[in-house]
Amino acid sequence: MLELDIKIPAMPEGGYPIRIGTDILGSLWPRIEADFDKYSKFVVTDENLVSAGHLQKLLGQRDIPAFTISPAGEASKTIDTAIAIIEAMEKAYLGRDTLVVALGGGTVGDIAGFAAAVFKRGVPVLQIPTSTVAQADSAVGGKTGVDSSMSKNAFGAFWHPAGVYIDTVILKTLDERQFRAGLVESVKHAIIADSEYFDFLEENLDAVLQRKPDVLEKIAERNCRIKGSVVEADPREQNQRRSLNYGHTIGHAVEAASGFELLHGEAVAIGIIAAGLIEIEMELAQPGRLDRIRGILEKLGVPVKLPADMAEEKLIDLIKRDKKAVNKWPRFVLISRIGEVYRQDGQYAVEVSAELVTTVLQKL
Ligand SMILES: NC(=O)c1ccc[n+]([C@@H]2O[C@H](COP(=O)([O-])OP(=O)(O)OC[C@H]3O[C@@H](n4cnc5c(N)ncnc54)[C@H](O)[C@@H]3O)[C@@H](O)[C@H]2O)c1
Ligand SMILES: [Zn+2]
Repeated sequence: MLELDIKIPAMPEGGYPIRIGTDILGSLWPRIEADFDKYSKFVVTDENLVSAGHLQKLLGQRDIPAFTISPAGEASKTIDTAIAIIEAMEKAYLGRDTLVVALGGGTVGDIAGFAAAVFKRGVPVLQIPTSTVAQADSAVGGKTGVDSSMSKNAFGAFWHPAGVYIDTVILKTLDERQFRAGLVESVKHAIIADSEYFDFLEENLDAVLQRKPDVLEKIAERNCRIKGSVVEADPREQNQRRSLNYGHTIGHAVEAASGFELLHGEAVAIGIIAAGLIEIEMELAQPGRLDRIRGILEKLGVPVKLPADMAEEKLIDLIKRDKKAVNKWPRFVLISRIGEVYRQDGQYAVEVSAELVTTVLQKL
């Protein structure tokens, strides 16, 4: 098993370990018991993880209280679900000495992390991410939250995990479209931070899509190192952490304009192409760079063009509503080359005019 350490100086424990392996789920529990021997355990998962057999594999015959989110997915990422989890913990007589174990994708991780952050003013959470999104992105970084009826993550807290366990074999049961869309975050990591990783993804994409454990371990490790180092440097998103937003400003607008018909990663893929076109307009791109990026995304089978019925005016309006906008216009993350974010006066997000963005949307 591969082990990485994430250092978060603000955490009382100073950071947390990430452990990555293949087919480790069935032997994890004794290790969790040993590492957290003073804690009672409570598991949060969702119905799909139960029917895929993963909860059973994690717990074996042990009698551990668990909460199963149903229906699975974003619709359940609400304050009501967080309340139900907290009340289930109370009914099980659990107190401040509880370890919450989140077994699931980003939805489970975000809700369970949020419930742990607020239960009795905070108990530790262990993340066992099961989707490509969660293994690359949501499990590492300490952002937790639930949605309101108006917006995503309206309730939230920074609550770093006590540890992260990644088993690449769990991904075998993930739906193909979810699997591919989640890999867009891996491509994003390579683009902003690691050109060798980008080369690796280009060369090994077939093996990734066949879900070969050794390549999945490698990408889990790269993703955690990249996201971990950004989070270490900037745990509360003052500046450098914004680089993780590459492709997301336009991506979020596309996701919303599709009425959430597009998966997050699919919309971000379009946002990444848009960022590439902005870089060309701003003369930041080397010849052929965007073609390489488009090549990987096309091979992933995610969209690289705006849906035909999506109006530019609507997207511009949504971009103005971006939660990071100041005076109704956000800054954009761009790259100077594959593996390096473009910075202006030390800032990782830079000004791009609405006119230029409109021009790019017309070309998209
Ligand atoms: N906290 C963060 O930093 C952060 C980062 C990125 C995304 N997110 C959040 O994560 C959520 C999206 O995450 P997601 O894409 O993992 O969604 P998800 O957790 O809803 O999972 C997608 C679907 O796949 C199923 N699934 C997950 N793993 C499976 C497996 N191994 N086998 C079979 N089915 C499986 C789920 O039950 C669900 O139906 C969003 O709410 C997003 O806001 C948070
Ligand atoms: Zn994302």
